[in-house]
Amino acid sequence: MKCAIKFIVHYEGRIYFLESNNSEYRNLMSLLKDKICPEDFGQCGGMGRCGTCLVKISRGSSDSEMFYRNEHETLRKIGIVDPEIRLSCQIHVNEGLKNVVVQLLDNN
Ligand code: FES
Repeated sequence: MKCAIKFIVHYEGRIYFLESNNSEYRNLMSLLKDKICPEDFGQCGGMGRCGTCLVKISRGSSDSEMFYRNEHETLRKIGIVDPEIRLSCQIHVNEGLKNVVVQLLDNN
């Protein structure tokens, strides 16, 4: 049985109550792109290189960690030092996102 993963996303003054499950999306970027369609979001397709999929996770969880590939280097290049700001393409959609508040950041 698939377990629903429910979380909240803030974007451009709106609040989205989203729901998914473990196998529906490859990562959080794909889910946000599909359900919210932010402009110019996730331009490298999830390679962790473009930095156009930034989110702030207000209440994170260790289960949502992926943090490999190019995330550290990409965040460093664009001057991000806040550990709550992540590349959404490097975050799994799993139980770690349950009840988390995600703020979609302006990538420009
Ligand atoms: S989609 Fe390019 S860094 Fe996430």
